[in-house]
Order: sequence, then C-alpha cells, then structure tokens
Amino acid sequence: MEKTKVGIVGMGTVGTGVARLLLDHGDRTARHAGRTLWLEHVIVRDVAKPRDVDLPAGLLSNDLDRLLADQQVTLVAQLVGGIEPARTIMLRLLESGKDVVTANKALLAEHGPELFDRARELGRSISFEASVAGGIPIVANISQCFGANQITSIRGILNGTSNFIITKMDQGLGDYTSALKDAQRLGFAEADPTMDVDGTDVAQKLAILSHLAFGVRQHWSEIPRRGIDSVSKLDVDYARQLGYRIKLIAYSEFTGDGLQMFVSPTLVRVGTPLAEVRDNFNAISVVGDAVGRVFYHGQGAGQMPTASAVVADMIDTAVGRARITFQTLKLWSKQESTIAMADPRKLRSGYYLRFQLIDKPGALGQVCTILGNHNISVSDVIQHKADLVDDQNIVPVVVMTHPTTEAQTAAAVEELNRLAIVHPATERLKVLD
Ligand code: HSE
Repeated sequence: MEKTKVGIVGMGTVGTGVARLLLDHGDRTARHAGRTLWLEHVIVRDVAKPRDVDLPAGLLSNDLDRLLADQQVTLVAQLVGGIEPARTIMLRLLESGKDVVTANKALLAEHGPELFDRARELGRSISFEASVAGGIPIVANISQCFGANQITSIRGILNGTSNFIITKMDQGLGDYTSALKDAQRLGFAEADPTMDVDGTDVAQKLAILSHLAFGVRQHWSEIPRRGIDSVSKLDVDYARQLGYRIKLIAYSEFTGDGLQMFVSPTLVRVGTPLAEVRDNFNAISVVGDAVGRVFYHGQGAGQMPTASAVVADMIDTAVGRARITFQTLKLWSKQESTIAMADPRKLRSGYYLRFQLIDKPGALGQVCTILGNHNISVSDVIQHKADLVDDQNIVPVVVMTHPTTEAQTAAAVEELNRLAIVHPATERLKVLD
C-alpha cells in the first residue's frame, strides 16, 4: 500500500495520543486514507523524558531541522501549545513544504490571519479540527456541512476543564480546587489552567467558530468574557434550587443590531440539553436558517478525543481534501467582515442577582423598588435565614428577573451596591431560557 510519511512535533498529552493512533491503529487510518500514514519523525524538546507510548527506535529526536529537511514528509501534526515557539515552528513547517495539522487554538486565535495567509501563499494547508471542542467535529460541520445556511446562533460549552469543575461542584463531589486538580490529573486542563478557568480558552474557541460561521474577525480578547474561577458554590446551589445549572456558556448570535458574543457563567434550565452536559464533555447548539437547530455533544478535552480529531485531519490532508477545503474557504483572508458587532449593553436576557443584604425591615423592599425604577421585573425570589458576618446579620437574597438588558441590569446593580443595606459582592449572572 502507498505510504504518506508524516511527522509529529510535540509529544504532550495530545501528541502521545496521536502517535498511539498512528502506530497501533494504522489499519483504520489506512482504510480511510487509502494509504498508510507512516510515522517517520517525532520531534520533542527533551528526548530523555519518559513517554507513554512505544515509539520504534530512531523516531524520536529533538532535531526539528532533520524533519524540515526531509522532503518525503509533507504532512506534520504540530502539537506544541502556546504562542512561541509554536508560531515559528508552524511557519517553518509551511515554508519547508509541509501541510500542517494543529490543535493549538490559542495560536490560531492570535495569529490565524498571518499563518493562513502564509499557507495560502505557499500553496499549503492548515487543518485545525482539534482546536475547538476536541472530538466533536464542529469545525468541519460549520465550515462545510452548513454551506447552504445562514447560521444565526452558536451556543456552546467549550471548555472541558471548566465543565468538569462546575459539574463536581454541582454534584457536591468536590470544591473548586480539588476538582481543578482532578482535571489536571486526567489531562483535560492546559499546562497553565488559568486560561481554562478564566474564560480565555473559550473566547479563543468562540472567536474561531464565529469566524467560520459568520465570517466575523473578532479578536478573542475583545469578546466580553468571564470564567468559572469567580463562581461560588453558593450560587451553584441557589441556581439548583431554582431549577437551573450554572454552565460556562460561549454565545454568538445574530440579532437585529448585529452579532452578540460573550463567554460567561450562565444559568441554564435543568433538563435542557446544555444543562445536562457533564464532566469534561462539550456541547454546541448551532442554528442555521435552512437546517434548524443541530446539537453536538462529545468529549471536548482529553487525550484520545483530541487525538481523534488530529488524525482525522491528517487523513483529510493525506487524501487531498484538506487542501481543497483550505483553499476554497479562504479563512482569515484579508477580506473585511461586513458583520457589525452588536452593542453588548443591549443584549436581553433574564438575570440571576444575589445580594448580601443587611437584615433590616424594608431591605428587600428597597431592592425591589430600585429594580422597578429601572424597569426590571422580578420573576422569583429566594431568601433564607441571616448569618452573622462582621457583627451584622447578613442575608443572601436571590432575585431572578424577567428578560431585561445588560445596560439596565448593570445600572440597577450599581445603584443597589451603593445602598447602605447592601453588603459588597453582589453576583449577577445571565439566564438562558
Ligand atoms: N484544556 C481544554 C479544555 C482542552 O479543558 O477544554 C483543549 O482545548
């Protein structure tokens, strides 16, 4: 059978999984590619480090130049994380005549235009299915399968680590710190998990999906975002009492005013598909004007689900499909997006508000009066017994509102926070119904 010689750069969690699939399941890849994907080079920084895969002798080296010089290798999985040296390695691979497959969403979200332009100039391709939602084939689906649609909405859970942590908190199976440690041990979290839990990773993925779906070139850092690192167990528990779960939601939606985008912990009603996504699983709900709503669910983080997406891209590249798609789609080309971003202050949703009130007669009345003055209508209220905090009786009061705008809610909360009866640390979360 014909051989396509391939290389891997980077042997972290995902690289190891890719090597395993290529070495242990070559028959499967050969069946789909019509040729053997023959692993010829594995380039790592530290060759002495123990590896969780049996590599044939002579494969492993720290000599990137050897791979670059090997003209028989035209396809490389570039699995180095972060921005540098990943960017330079990617450019050097393209310039030495290799098509590249990557899982590095941070690199694409930051340098997509530069890398894609360079690949086009050189007649090479970059494939990146694994960069968003691991094993869920969302990149191919949005960029190819919905070609007849105007996509109107993307709502997703795109970070396995965050979803794992929030699930454990919701189930009472651990606090934030212990759940994060478990996520690291299980290989879901990034080397530096800050980006997982502060919303950065999700904003980068949402920027990629929104570019594919809407053509919009919104830099990830300009997407309003908040992560689960600031969510308290108290709010997870109150949300449950109200029939909701808190999920880290990525949201991109066409409105009359343009595209609304945000990443935020959000209340979703128990029993709805996004609320039922557990552990390291990801999910994405996409609405197209012809197809209607389509829902994807699968493992969005972890070694083998991500490796599965990388190897699928390698097969596509080996048979030539990736090149055609890459050249046809013109992703991150110089064309400017015609889609305007909507004013985030105009976004309408219900809100979950938690106030820490000093327990005095009329305190709840004052809160409701100010909400009413801002034209905000209350749909639900929870108040339990007060606790002694700093010598004062503090009572948490949770208010659910009917849909209102971000601007109205922000203004009302600002005014409420100035009241003497409101202890600091009001929580404000959107509700998706
Ligand atoms: N660290 C990511 C997550 C996986 O937890 O979802 C890679 O994108």
